[in-house]
Amino acid sequence: MMWHMELSDFGAKLSSHSGILQLMDDISKPLAEGVKPRPLGGGNPARVPQVEAAYRRQMERLLADGEAFEDLLAHYDSPQGRVSFLEMAARFFRSRYGWPLTADNIALTNGSQSAMFYLFNMFSGTTGGKRRTILFPLMPEYIGYADQGIEPDTFVSVPSKCTYYGDGTFKYTLDVDAVREYLDSHEEVGAIAVSRPTNPSGNVLTDTEIRTLAALAREHSIPLIVDNAYGLPFPDIVFTDDAQPLWNEDIVLSMSLSKIGLPSIRTGIVIAREDIIRAVGNINAIAALATGSFGPALAHDMLASGELVDLAHDVVRPFYQRKAERCAAIIRSAFEGTRYMLHRIEGSIFCWIYLPDLRIPTLEFYSVLMKDGVITVPGEYFFFGSDRQRHGLPYPHEHYDKCLRLNYSGDETLVEEGIRLIADRYREWSL
Ligand SMILES: Cc1ncc(COP(=O)(O)O)c(C=O)c1O
Repeated sequence: MMWHMELSDFGAKLSSHSGILQLMDDISKPLAEGVKPRPLGGGNPARVPQVEAAYRRQMERLLADGEAFEDLLAHYDSPQGRVSFLEMAARFFRSRYGWPLTADNIALTNGSQSAMFYLFNMFSGTTGGKRRTILFPLMPEYIGYADQGIEPDTFVSVPSKCTYYGDGTFKYTLDVDAVREYLDSHEEVGAIAVSRPTNPSGNVLTDTEIRTLAALAREHSIPLIVDNAYGLPFPDIVFTDDAQPLWNEDIVLSMSLSKIGLPSIRTGIVIAREDIIRAVGNINAIAALATGSFGPALAHDMLASGELVDLAHDVVRPFYQRKAERCAAIIRSAFEGTRYMLHRIEGSIFCWIYLPDLRIPTLEFYSVLMKDGVITVPGEYFFFGSDRQRHGLPYPHEHYDKCLRLNYSGDETLVEEGIRLIADRYREWSL
């Protein structure tokens, strides 16, 4: 007989069912026979030909350059990341944006997902005998964070405010008073964290909102962690004008090469104070030994020369903006005559649709859609960190079980078919 596997608290918590696991499973799981998949789930970015061509050129250069390729394969980089890349990136951000950086302010990780995991657990959980928490000030937030805390119940949140517009759209905004009040009355908060652009809603926090959060963080001697996976200056999937690349010593900026063509290579870039970077590098040594060298090697010259940022701005941004506008137009036509609201698509590769008349929670509606091959992500997963949920109650936000996240970046025919099927099923399942 096999022995019984007994997991530690850490093992049990991190291996239990999580939204991110379901999402990654759904991307790869076959549907029932004969059902045509319309994949609007996961976070896979699109293939952008000019971006692919640029990486191909880098790869060819590498292969043609004596033993450079073999040399790249044969060595571990340092736990903080490829040193030549760190030095170049510091020079680049210093000269282009005036950020006072050296290589000691930058660390690389195997994807920004692991960077966020390290950061959340550096700043939350048992700390000097007390329990510290991470505050998410703009719920809904990225499903991929929800289960990243090693200790239970260390993620807390403030529901976003919502502005509705007459054109069938809405936008989440920061409830600054509620965030301030929460921080003033909860000294255990160890960091504030946001994604910008926000996954799932496609919201982009304005410069003013980021500066307000950074100032609040400073007041409370904690960092503001900004997940810039879709942000500025690359991949620049940002369609608003009131967002600039921002960094100062109160901000931990987490960047990624995934949404600019390299999701499989796993390269995260963290920019922060030296002491924070040292800690990230040390954790990386224990958890991963080193970071993969391929991403930094392929992107090195492109970042140094400005090509990466130019590609982001001139190619990637318009590529997604066109897709976003097309998606919004299809939604307007497919949902005509129903009560629905679309979050303004200000950035990211997602749209977020609010279906107030839905008779069933989106967790169930998601299964209805799966039968038609339409893969979406139900909104419930993006609302976490409320005391009420710990008592089995729903998250206190009127959108909690009435929203779907759709990835609009895939094949345009399938996106359109998927959206039309969602609208048809919504009519059937409306109040
Ligand atoms: C907001 C956000 N942060 C982080 C990640 C993780 O990206 P990666 O680990 O590929 O850098 C994603 C992926 O979809 C994301 O949407």
